[in-house]
Amino acid sequence: MLYSAGRHRALNAAARGLWGRTGTAYFQPVRCTVRPSSTASVAYTSDKYPSIQRRTDLKKVSAEDVAFFRSVLPPTSVITNEDDLFTYNVDWMRKYRGRSPVVLLPKTTDQVSKLLAYCNQQRLAVVPQGGNTGLVGGGVPVFDEIVISTNLMNQVRSFDDVSGVVACDAGCILEVLDGYLGERGFMMPLDLGAKGSCHVGGNVAANAGGLRFLRYGSLHGTVLGVEAVLPDGTILDNMSTLRKDNTGYDLKQLFIGSEGTLGLVTGVTVSTPRRPNASSIAIQPSVNVAMVGVESFEKVQATFRNAKGMLSEVLSAFEFWDSHAAGLVRAHAVNKAQDPLSAPYPFYVLMETHGSNKEHDDAKLNAFLEHLMENEVVADGVVAQDEAQIKSLWSMRESIPEACSKAGAVYKYDVSIPVPKLYELVEDMRSRLESMGLMGDLVKDVIGYGHMGDGNLHLNITASTYDKRVTDAIEPYVYEWVASHNGSISAEHGLGLMKAHHIGYSKSAAMVNLMQQIKQLVDPNGIMNPYKYFPERA
Ligand code: FAD
Ligand code: MLT
Ligand code: ZN
Repeated sequence: MLYSAGRHRALNAAARGLWGRTGTAYFQPVRCTVRPSSTASVAYTSDKYPSIQRRTDLKKVSAEDVAFFRSVLPPTSVITNEDDLFTYNVDWMRKYRGRSPVVLLPKTTDQVSKLLAYCNQQRLAVVPQGGNTGLVGGGVPVFDEIVISTNLMNQVRSFDDVSGVVACDAGCILEVLDGYLGERGFMMPLDLGAKGSCHVGGNVAANAGGLRFLRYGSLHGTVLGVEAVLPDGTILDNMSTLRKDNTGYDLKQLFIGSEGTLGLVTGVTVSTPRRPNASSIAIQPSVNVAMVGVESFEKVQATFRNAKGMLSEVLSAFEFWDSHAAGLVRAHAVNKAQDPLSAPYPFYVLMETHGSNKEHDDAKLNAFLEHLMENEVVADGVVAQDEAQIKSLWSMRESIPEACSKAGAVYKYDVSIPVPKLYELVEDMRSRLESMGLMGDLVKDVIGYGHMGDGNLHLNITASTYDKRVTDAIEPYVYEWVASHNGSISAEHGLGLMKAHHIGYSKSAAMVNLMQQIKQLVDPNGIMNPYKYFPERA
């Protein structure tokens, strides 16, 4: 058994009963820094997908429209300059690119209301945009839709340290809001690799899952209230701070995961948990992070089964990735992430505990790790000893999306599958692309990682460029595979443009029909994020 002496505490030390105290500090977030930098390399979506036709009932932006926008917003909040428009028109993956001639940066809900009411009356299409870190082409225009960005809507409105409920503007950056809460001994229940850029409104609109869903649950549970502006300008004020409220339909739920198709979310209230390492808590709180190398996916499952049994209530994350993902992170050293295990393993698992009693958590983790080592469930591993090591271990996991994007193009599939079958899809896809002769110059690698604890696999196929031959080899095969295993074609990234026409693999015709009726009721002119989410009605 190998271990990296000196940097982290190796698991063999834990197995010999030498387990010591781990650091209690919280890890620092990894910033989502990759941004499109040149116009040349990103083709227009409408050129790449000629089957999507611009809706003729939607008006083109005129000089009068821009003049109206300038009457509502200050001049610097109406962007029409080609260079400045670029970052709003291109997505994080450089896969989707629109041609919006104008980006609007409102600061208040009233401004959003005036803008949307005007756009609706003029039949001008609108794409709500937060941090533009979405991975399904939902946050950028397809043609010339107007982008309304929440960049300037970034105020915390209130915080109550008894209930832990925070009320904020939709444009608060997740990491910044989490920092605000951290200073008060609380934390956001949501965490993800894009925290340095994504907005809370974007998280809600996408119903993001993330790294601690396993412990802190879905935004459908933690979001207590939403303020949204409907296409006709109506402000729907549902900024509830109540945990319980059984009066009528729970309308806020409609906006969670609606991906900008029903209205623009301007405010959010969230029920936030205590931060496990908050110094204000009297008893000694704790955060532990361990990373292990595992020889097979069966053993990854055994590790998870044991973690649920032995770490139970303190387990806060259980993430896995394969050797292909680890190889890419090593090769690209994104965020200076360094593999602390000396040998490459077929699989890696990162486990985190959050608790309120360090002695108790350490004892639990120690017994758990000893059990894994003694029973040869894991081959090797390390436990972080301080904040820097916690950060470094998380960085290995959080760097994977960026490392995957380095090949030139990345095809991302985000699926829910029953856990025992989770990795089979990666193996099947690898064999398929090999047998089709696509691996090599075009397809570079097939990678599997994800939120094992939630049955959520991220299947990534890296390629030198986005190419129809690759798309056709993957789709609809991947969707059929998932549907035949009773899975979902989107666990957390949503539908966007990418999966608008594939919703039927995961939802019945009756359900899609009801969704379209809701859309018709709320947005009869279809101005909100057109071409996305589900097939356009004839
Ligand atoms: P955007 O990308 O701007 O928009 C996303 C969608 O929401 C679009 O359809 C947009 O129109 C709509 N929207 C945005 N703001 C509003 C608003 N105020 N009102 C109405 N609609 C709006 N996702 C996960 O679930 N889990 C992860 O672990 C995860 N990790 C990621 C890691 C990286 C490195 C990256 C790049 C992305 C990751 N994502 C993850 C994907 C992405 O969903 C999240 O980053 C985030 O939720 C998107 O927020 P955003 O503010 O960037 O939204
Ligand atoms: C993740 O879990 O890292 C995110 O969902 C992003 C991705 O899938 O690449
Ligand atoms: Zn994810």
